[in-house]
Amino acid sequence: MKSLKDRILKDGMALNETVLKVDSFLNHGVDAQLMYEVGTEFKNYFMDHGVTKIFTIESSGIAPTVMTAIQMDLPMVTLKKQASKVLKDDVYQTTVHSFTKATDYELTLSKKYISNEDKVLIIDDFLANGEAALGAIRLVEEAGAQVAGIGIVIEKSFQPGRQLLMDKGYEVYSLARINKLGKGIIEFVEE
Ligand code: G4P
Ligand code: NA
Ligand code: NA
Repeated sequence: MKSLKDRILKDGMALNETVLKVDSFLNHGVDAQLMYEVGTEFKNYFMDHGVTKIFTIESSGIAPTVMTAIQMDLPMVTLKKQASKVLKDDVYQTTVHSFTKATDYELTLSKKYISNEDKVLIIDDFLANGEAALGAIRLVEEAGAQVAGIGIVIEKSFQPGRQLLMDKGYEVYSLARINKLGKGIIEFVEE
């Protein structure tokens, strides 16, 4: 997605070899117009995948996912990153390890918001090691539903997430794929 890549080059900042800061349009400030275009891209790609629901993970996945859900005219669910305070029987829950942040959290989905007939598109802002996406997949499959695909705004292709998900048979569509980061360096995968 050209406008996204241009924006990453203009406003993104590589903090080091692994972390790209995009606070001005995705993680803190949110460029709603750009997010709308992100939604259009996901819609065009996933429109024939039989998607019934779109899932994301709080919090930075929400903006691009809302924009996709509104254009695909589908319901959206935000997976929570904390253990449910209500009855355990009412939720699906799985532990996710974040390598980037060196912490574990409980990814939680109320049983009310999924059925075994759903085909779920999972959208997130970043794909690094793939642990968040794998956690979301576990919740979907525990409910007996299917994963329709995974949509990512920014993929760090030099980290193992994409390959891990593809090896397990999931389709991954990323709008910007980054090959290399470094001080003052942002390089995309040639496509
Ligand atoms: P993984 O799911 O692919 O394994 O990623 P990981 O746990 O390592 O990522 C932890 C958090 O860091 C996630 O956000 C993820 O979006 C974010 N992240 C990973 N790499 C980068 C990066 O290069 N730049 C930026 N800006 N963020 C990155 P989070 O803290 O869990 O949630 P939120 O920001 O959506 O609230
Ligand atoms: Na995120
Ligand atoms: Na984030």
